[in-house]
Amino acid sequence: MKPRILVTRANFPEVLAHLAARFELEDNQGDTPFPPDELRARLADKDGALITGFDRIDAPLLAACPRLRAACNIAVGYNNMDLAACTACGVVATNTPDVLNETTADLAFALLMAAARRVTESERWLRGGHWRGWQVDQLLGQDVHHATLGIVGMGRIGQAIARRGRGFDMRILYNNRSRVAPEVERALDARRVDLLDLLRESDFVCLVLPYTPESHHLIGAHELALMKPTGVLVNVARGGIVDDAALIAALAGRRIAAAGLDVYEGEPALNRGFLALDNVALTPHIGSASRATRLAMGMTAAGNLIAALAGERPPNLLNPDVWERRRR
Ligand code: DGY
Repeated sequence: MKPRILVTRANFPEVLAHLAARFELEDNQGDTPFPPDELRARLADKDGALITGFDRIDAPLLAACPRLRAACNIAVGYNNMDLAACTACGVVATNTPDVLNETTADLAFALLMAAARRVTESERWLRGGHWRGWQVDQLLGQDVHHATLGIVGMGRIGQAIARRGRGFDMRILYNNRSRVAPEVERALDARRVDLLDLLRESDFVCLVLPYTPESHHLIGAHELALMKPTGVLVNVARGGIVDDAALIAALAGRRIAAAGLDVYEGEPALNRGFLALDNVALTPHIGSASRATRLAMGMTAAGNLIAALAGERPPNLLNPDVWERRRR
C-alpha cells in the first residue's frame, strides 16, 4: 500500500502530480485552512504531511497522529512546528531554505523603496483625484541611495538584501547572533554591530530574522524610539517580532518616518490602526510570491517528503536528532 499523505493547502498541479505518483494523496484544492481540530483529524491516518507555515504541528497534534513520520513545511520559517515534540515522536520536520532568498529580498527592497519614496501613499492620493500639478515640495520622501541599511538577521535572505543595498551604494550594518564569514562581510562591506547601535545609526532597518520566543517583540516602543525620526522600518520576517501597537503609535506620532510591512501579529488579522496611516506600505505576506519561487518551494517540500517516507535523510532536515535516533 502506498503511504498516505495530506497536502493542507492548494498547490500547483506539478507538485500534486509529483506526489500523487508515489502516495495516496488527500489535498485541499478548496484552500480553506483547516482549523486545528480538523487538521488533527485529517492527519490521524496519514504517514506524511505537506504543510504551510500556518499549520501548527505540536505535541497534542502529534499525540493524535501516531502514524505520522514526516511534516514538511512549504516555508523557510518553521515557528509553526514544535521541533522538540516532532523529535520526541520520531517525526521528521523539514523546511524550504534557499529557493526563496532572492524573491524575498526583492520584496523587502520593494517595500523599503515604497515606504521611503511614499509610493503607495502617492498612488492613493493620485487615484483620489488630488493632483493639481507638480510642486517643489510634493510628497517628499527619503533617499535610498547612499543611506545606511541595517539588517537584523544576516542569513541568506539578509545577505541577498545587503547585495541589493550595495547596488544602491548603501552602507551596510548588520546584527546577527554570530558573525558572518569574513569574506561575506568583505564582499558586502558589512559591519556587525549590536542591535541598539544598528537602530540608532540606520536610515533603514530591515528585519529578516527567525521568529522565536527570544525575538518576540524584539522591536517595541523602546527600540522604535532609538531609530532616527527619518528612519524606515521594513519587516519581511514574521509578525510578532514587532509590537504592532507600538509601531502604529510611532508611525502616527511621526517618531519614525515610515514602515514597509509584509507580516503582522496574528495575521491574517490586521491591526486596523495601520489602515488609518499614510506612512506605511502594506503587503499580505507575499515575500516569496513569484510563480517560479512558490513552485520551487512546493517541489522542495515534496522532495523532502518523498525522501523522508522512503527512509532517506531529507535534504532540509530541521531536527537531525530524529535521524540519529533512527539510525541507532
Ligand atoms: C516563509 O517561507 O517562511 C514564508 O514566510 C512563507 O511564505
